[in-house]
Amino acid sequence: MSELQYMSGFGNEFATEAEPNALPKGQNSPQKVPYNLYAEQISGSPFTAPRHTNQRSWLYRIRPSVVHKPFKQIDNNLLRSTPFDEVPTPPNQLRWSPIPIPEKPTDFISGMVTIAGNGDCSMHNGLAIHVYAANKNMEKTFFYNADGEMLIVPQLGALRIDTEMGRMDVAPGEICVIQRGIKFRVDLLHESARGYICENYGSNFRLPDLGPIGANGLANPRDFLTPVARYENIDGDFTVIAKFLGNLWEAPIDHSPLDIVAWHGNYAPYKYDLATFNTINTVSFDHPDPSIFTVLTAPSEIPGTANCDFVIFPPRWMVAENTFRPPWFHRNFMNEFMGLIFGQYDAKAEGFVPGGCSLHNCMSGHGPDAATHKAATNAQLVPHKQENTLAFMFETRFVCKPTKYAMETGELQHDYYQCWQGLQPQFSK
Ligand SMILES: [Fe+2]
Repeated sequence: MSELQYMSGFGNEFATEAEPNALPKGQNSPQKVPYNLYAEQISGSPFTAPRHTNQRSWLYRIRPSVVHKPFKQIDNNLLRSTPFDEVPTPPNQLRWSPIPIPEKPTDFISGMVTIAGNGDCSMHNGLAIHVYAANKNMEKTFFYNADGEMLIVPQLGALRIDTEMGRMDVAPGEICVIQRGIKFRVDLLHESARGYICENYGSNFRLPDLGPIGANGLANPRDFLTPVARYENIDGDFTVIAKFLGNLWEAPIDHSPLDIVAWHGNYAPYKYDLATFNTINTVSFDHPDPSIFTVLTAPSEIPGTANCDFVIFPPRWMVAENTFRPPWFHRNFMNEFMGLIFGQYDAKAEGFVPGGCSLHNCMSGHGPDAATHKAATNAQLVPHKQENTLAFMFETRFVCKPTKYAMETGELQHDYYQCWQGLQPQFSK
């Protein structure tokens, strides 16, 4: 078996075994499991959730998950969970420069810093938005998050993520989702790594409905990759860190918990190459709303009002006639956290750089800066390929409260408002 194998599809009932015939035939928990393994179910939804949202997997493992020593609380560092109210949330437009790569040894977990969040992790609604910067592997340490699923968006350096269900390599330009409860370890495939995390407390991400678009388009199910079974049978002194009800806890464990020899089910991590997104846009005039760029959505109980939409602004042809082509000025109900994976975003001439981020909350006006506005109103409207650009947005129904760290860090750009001050009154009678 090669190091990296994936199964394709979104939300499928997958079946995979790292040893031949390790999966029980015709039932989930026979009296004796093949290879004498333990059978364990992990459910990602209530048992009685409707079929289209019902998620669970059956794991056939060397030791059950319950085998570990008691958890003890550890320092959360700069990781926060909602609800928090550390500083007043201003209606200002907010933008940050990239957080620096740490100088002291920092792994993926200790390198997570919370920028903003909303909702309440204990109520399974809202989200937290973290950035991470790391320079070392998670040595002998595993992590799981009971509060929410984690959508990881690498910006710098590829990650090797070994999960209970198998291995995923995730590079900038790709994303992955690791659901609530699934244990994993992150190694760095380059010297350092940086990126963004949406910790989604709400219903799990799924593909958006396509409405009049039809059966094809946006992110296609076949382009999502889920790892095949892969196990470690290792004894030693290991640590499991749990994020549980907003705090970090650690427990000693005398083996690697990545000891699943076979599994089947539809609750499993996945990765997705954003370059496979089928981008749809106007071929006549004006702008569709950015919902046209939705990769994944985590719906709430209110129709059309997502707990979180994950939206990308990928390379694409711009052909709109008689149109101001960058995003226009706007004020929205929804709250927008943006990041830039590479290149340049078409609404800003400078200041929004790869690894940086911005937050425009409910009804805070924003849009192109003065330089972009001037250029776009005078541009010759020939077909133009927007190349070398990959921005994204976590768009969410609740106002995102920034953390104390976010409002006090030196990366906060206090002069962000200046980019609009050059917009002169315009009224030609
Ligand atoms: Fe916006």
